[in-house]
Amino acid sequence: MLLETLVLLFFGALCANANTQTPFTSDLHSAASSTILAQENNITLQLNSITSEETFVALSHPRFPNHSVRIKKSTFCDPTVSVYTGYLDVDEGAKHLFFYFFESRRDPAKDDVMMWINGGPGCSSGMGLLFELGPCSIDMTKASPNGTNWNPYSWNKEANIFFLDQPVGVGYSYADFGETVETTEEAARNVHAFITIFFETFKQFAGRSLHLAGESYGGRYLPVFASEIYDKNKVAESEGRPSLNLKSIMIGNGITDISTLYEGRYQIECGTAALDVPFQQISTCVRIKSALPRCQALMRNSCIDQFDHMNCGAAVQFCDNEMTTAYWASGRNVYDVSMVCKEQDLCYPDENAVADFLDLTSTRQMLGAESPGKFTVCSNTVGRNFVSHLDKWAHHTQHYVAELLERDIRVLIYAGTYDYQCNWIANKLWVDKLEWSGRTAYAGQTWRDWLVDGHTAGATKKAGGLTFATILGAGHMVPHDKPAEAQAMVSRWLANQDI
Ligand SMILES: *[C@@H]1O[C@H](CO)[C@@H](O)[C@H](O)[C@H]1NC(C)=O
Ligand SMILES: *[C@@H]1O[C@H](CO)[C@@H](O)[C@H](O)[C@H]1NC(C)=O
Ligand SMILES: *[C@@H]1O[C@H](CO)[C@@H](O)[C@H](O)[C@H]1NC(C)=O
Repeated sequence: MLLETLVLLFFGALCANANTQTPFTSDLHSAASSTILAQENNITLQLNSITSEETFVALSHPRFPNHSVRIKKSTFCDPTVSVYTGYLDVDEGAKHLFFYFFESRRDPAKDDVMMWINGGPGCSSGMGLLFELGPCSIDMTKASPNGTNWNPYSWNKEANIFFLDQPVGVGYSYADFGETVETTEEAARNVHAFITIFFETFKQFAGRSLHLAGESYGGRYLPVFASEIYDKNKVAESEGRPSLNLKSIMIGNGITDISTLYEGRYQIECGTAALDVPFQQISTCVRIKSALPRCQALMRNSCIDQFDHMNCGAAVQFCDNEMTTAYWASGRNVYDVSMVCKEQDLCYPDENAVADFLDLTSTRQMLGAESPGKFTVCSNTVGRNFVSHLDKWAHHTQHYVAELLERDIRVLIYAGTYDYQCNWIANKLWVDKLEWSGRTAYAGQTWRDWLVDGHTAGATKKAGGLTFATILGAGHMVPHDKPAEAQAMVSRWLANQDI
């Protein structure tokens, strides 16, 4: 989910103990809750050697002397697999990034590893876990004794998956002294450190295929995170160190190339890209259509061709005032044009239920969550900090996607057709004009329907490592709206088959 409401206020619219001899040591973390796992110097850790559900085991890595990982076993969410939760302590332990790790339901020793992150910026991956694709879902009927229901369509059906609350300040992640991370590039360094320590500590993952998945602001995060991993891999390889076997990124209803955003929104509300009949008032559509060229010219001049902080901010403000205010005022859900909400905040009552559940003392204890203050699904502070750098508008994130494709990292861009915020048209338009060596081949492909259980789930197109797929009748949170279709798509993607 994007940090929609908050950002609207600003710009009206977002799409949303080192041992130098031996590689792995575990040591006493300063927190009293930690324990010593092994005292030998040369140990090979397996995840299943972590057995404590009460206390964290702290792990450190000589190449990340200022980082450590604390991890414990948990009975949270999925009784059919092993579950672990913990923190990456970054920058001499001052910043703490929370993660959940679920083994694959199929073959944890062989299946790929996937990371899922939600967007915002500032939104917790706990939302993706409990509302979208995790092994259990929040129980809105209050019938379940543990507050959740097992999800048969979870993406850990065929992959080991971790959910990361990042950057610091999001979900259960926190900083000791008010430190912040305010740009995607800065966030990427912590994500790379986290994945590296995890993979190098638990030897069973060495060389295992890795996929980065997420939605919404993930369209900005993931290309940058993947590029950080790719570039650091090259350094590691040149120094004879292990690297991460990064295979793909998967972006759902993302914001990647800002140049197509408003055009896409126009086509959703004033065209037939989502619903069969345009649903916006004619007078509003005329106003939007008239403002669109100016909005695009302003953005091109001050955000895209060259970036000027103040002018770009003004351009975005103009675009949002002219182009998206009417949609928000319409009462329709910005994440699903087929839904009318009483109030924007109440489009998804599940959101509050997830926040309440993750804030329970019993839940926190089960997970080992140590963040001070109330759990919130999205952090306004983190969102505001990213906006203050115009993190979304200042960078050409699509170029990262092209560079990754040239290096054989596969890219899946998928989108539910009912989303307004980071809609499928905006995504289709930027993918169509993406500058990469497969551009002509991609343009030459025809769309075809893709099927799940005999019915059409959406349309897809592919060339080389790039696949685009729509999910018919799904909004922004695709795995929530169309769980079977989303899971089938992921299954095919992981197996390197056509969607
Ligand atoms: C650590 O163990 C591995 C495999 O048992 C061995 O090859 C290596 O030499 C050991 N390293 C040190 C520093 O003892
Ligand atoms: C670890 O932190 C110390 C003190 O802030 C700093 O001097 C050092 O460069 C850091 N090391 C790495 C590898 O970042
Ligand atoms: C929570 O309760 C539901 C419903 O009884 C059950 O299906 C699920 O397995 C339970 N989850 C855990 C983690 O025990």
